[in-house]
Amino acid sequence: MNATLPFSRGQAALWRERWGTPFYVYDEQGITDAVREWQAAFAWNPGFREYFAVKATPTPAILRLLASVGCGFDCASVPELVLAASCGARGSDIMFTSNETQPHEYRAAAELGAIVNLDDLTQVTNLAESSGVPETVCCRYNPGAFHGTNAFMGDLADSKFGMPRDQLFQAFSLLRDLGATRFGVHAMLASCSLDEDYYPALARELFSLANELRRETGVDIAFVDLAGGIGIPYRLEDRPVDFVSVGARVHMAYDELVSPEHPLAIYTELGRAITGPHGYLVASVVGHKHTFREYVGLDASAADLMRPAMYGAHHHISVLGSELDPPDGLFDVVGPLCENNDKFAVQRPLPETEVGDLVAIHSAGAHGRSMGYNYNGRPRCGELLLHPDGSAEQIRRRETIEDLFATLDVDDRFSILGTQAGSDEDA
Ligand SMILES: Cc1ncc(COP(=O)(O)O)c(C=O)c1O
Repeated sequence: MNATLPFSRGQAALWRERWGTPFYVYDEQGITDAVREWQAAFAWNPGFREYFAVKATPTPAILRLLASVGCGFDCASVPELVLAASCGARGSDIMFTSNETQPHEYRAAAELGAIVNLDDLTQVTNLAESSGVPETVCCRYNPGAFHGTNAFMGDLADSKFGMPRDQLFQAFSLLRDLGATRFGVHAMLASCSLDEDYYPALARELFSLANELRRETGVDIAFVDLAGGIGIPYRLEDRPVDFVSVGARVHMAYDELVSPEHPLAIYTELGRAITGPHGYLVASVVGHKHTFREYVGLDASAADLMRPAMYGAHHHISVLGSELDPPDGLFDVVGPLCENNDKFAVQRPLPETEVGDLVAIHSAGAHGRSMGYNYNGRPRCGELLLHPDGSAEQIRRRETIEDLFATLDVDDRFSILGTQAGSDEDA
């Protein structure tokens, strides 16, 4: 990975003065460059479209940026549909990939004209009864086993997602009989994969499957959706996936398996590979503890970025202004939650820090703030967008105590605590 930051300690200090820490900051240039590189790698495919996975970074300013460079959106819930629609997406701009879907969710997708991606055979009837079967419909495939899967997705036979082959064929026949005329097939068989074979192997699987589905059910397969799952370098020694090479190898598979009479558009739903490397969680050092280990305490916690606590995920950490300094020791970098897994790093070589120093936690732009939570009543942090001219704009304010109490009937909370404790400053 590239540990060079697109901002300086001076810039981050100014942002702290204005908005406080912790905050996420996203690099606009990095995100648009990533989308453009990905699109260029698939420009050979007529109809190619990246449907950015909204769950990765569900912030309107980021979604508008992605829409401005041609992305559609992959949504998994009604709020995600609303976010996509609020950024101007309609109809085939939206893929709705949900599971255990309820009637009101199908109705919301139908209202926007989204492409519905069915997770299960039993959902065919649910869709028909909720909103009717649209002309275009997609189904999610789970082959049960697949070369290139990894630990994050686990054994595909244990995965709750998608339908096995025989059910997929039944679903297509049923949907055809219920009036669907244009079909897509979707599969996401890995997560966080740095293996450049993953996408080409998946493409082969889906191109062949599309041919068989067309032959056996007589339906028109218009697209295959290779979904997300492309990893990013979290560790210094990790190499980024080469988009150009992946696109070229999918192209080879296409030329081999897809006949010119039945062209297939390729859709993708990357999240992590688009925004992940270009988002940073910036926090202040608030204390040091010297017990059985050396601890560096931050004002950010797992409630802001849960990947290390949840998956043991590695995120590179820079001490701003000391990025190039040699390490002075091994430190556990922790937050203030009452959970012993509230650790951004364990036994990490770092330079010495002082209270007030700023740190940047890298590769946090996808599945970062969006997986945040409010344990211990911790309000989640805000988000900034760094523009190419070096200026930054707040694109989401951080939560306040009022936000946390908005669903409760709590009287006199600020007279109990005094005004300071209820203010933004304390949030
Ligand atoms: C259906 C679907 N598509 C796309 C994605 C995005 O995956 P990634 O961010 O790994 O590219 C996800 C992530 O969970 C997903 O569930």
